[in-house]
Amino acid sequence: MTNLRTPLCDELGARLPVFGFSHSLDAAIAISRHGGIGIWGATRSTPEEIEIALTRMHDELGDLPYGIDLVIPPGMPDSDNRAEIEAAIPDDHRTFVDGLRARFDIPDDGQPGMRSRFVRSEESARAQVEVVMDSHLPILALGIGSPEWVIGPAKERGMKMISLVGQPRHAERALRAGADIIVAQGYDAGAHTGTVGTFSLVPRIVDVCGDTPVVAAGGVATGRHIAAAMAMGAQAVWMGTAWLFCEEEHTHPAIAAKLRAAESADTVISRADSGKTLRQVRSGWSDAWADDAAPAPLKMPYQDILVGDVLGQIERHEIEPLMHSPAGQSVAYFDEMTTVADVLDRLETETAATLDRFRA
Ligand SMILES: Cc1cc2nc3c(=O)[nH]c(=O)nc-3n(C[C@H](O)[C@H](O)[C@H](O)COP(=O)(O)O)c2cc1C
Repeated sequence: MTNLRTPLCDELGARLPVFGFSHSLDAAIAISRHGGIGIWGATRSTPEEIEIALTRMHDELGDLPYGIDLVIPPGMPDSDNRAEIEAAIPDDHRTFVDGLRARFDIPDDGQPGMRSRFVRSEESARAQVEVVMDSHLPILALGIGSPEWVIGPAKERGMKMISLVGQPRHAERALRAGADIIVAQGYDAGAHTGTVGTFSLVPRIVDVCGDTPVVAAGGVATGRHIAAAMAMGAQAVWMGTAWLFCEEEHTHPAIAAKLRAAESADTVISRADSGKTLRQVRSGWSDAWADDAAPAPLKMPYQDILVGDVLGQIERHEIEPLMHSPAGQSVAYFDEMTTVADVLDRLETETAATLDRFRA
């Protein structure tokens, strides 16, 4: 089969030009094992959990390429002080969330969800980064924000630094901060996303980046997408939605059913989960917040704390109409559950066939 390795693959030691982002450690490990570059989403994990995950990745993957992803947005509060955030939440917002709780019969079990288990703050980011700096992590990705206080020390320790960007000026900022690899993530992407579509974005980021490798994200689901990404100048793709359909991800069956049935237009962008624009599969949750009667979501981290507990309780108590997940427009290409190995095998075959067709 045609070799798909790009110079970036050679640099990182990967067989396939595919980065796979997942919040499931099992999925991230499987992606690296099967030729891709697994990136574990650690942003909502505690330093202790990150330490355990890093040890597991190191032990199980050895010299294979892998990484973790942190999100360190600018403008977060200094400390992890929930009481201070709670005090600033307007009554109208609380009343609205209480109304949803009553309407959908969501039990209050007093437990937080992943968005409210700690307050996103400078303090929590520094504690996460400290653990990373003490590890042998080969690749560190930053999903939002490219702070120099992270990039500089990580590079000194030999880590490859990746920044996800949604606009050329973000790429320029990340390059100035020292990023080694830029992920150009378009509007199509699942989760936090910007306003520029992948096709409009990638060639512009390639032009801005010069010799720095660019990776295309947002809407990649087939080998045709990978070949197109390469034609636009990217050296790899970065995928998130695809893995939600893999058994290693452990997607809840009710959410999996919604994802399988979804077309691209069934994903919506809402600020109701985190305060930032987050593409997700449409559900009773996004509909309720899109209603004229709903208040405008608060900014991060206030929205995290306003809704974090209730989102956790929706999942734990399986309140089906409100259950949802971030997902991108590529959701339309997947309609059955599969495995990481199958997805990567299919992508390899399809990409090689597409490139061979061009050569012929
Ligand atoms: C369920 C899910 C959760 C995500 N969480 C994060 C995150 O915590 N940090 C991050 O940098 N990107 C996150 N993303 C975005 C991915 O890194 C990636 O850019 C995106 O999924 C690519 O587009 P695609 O969804 O069309 O494959 C998430 C994506 C999904 C689908």
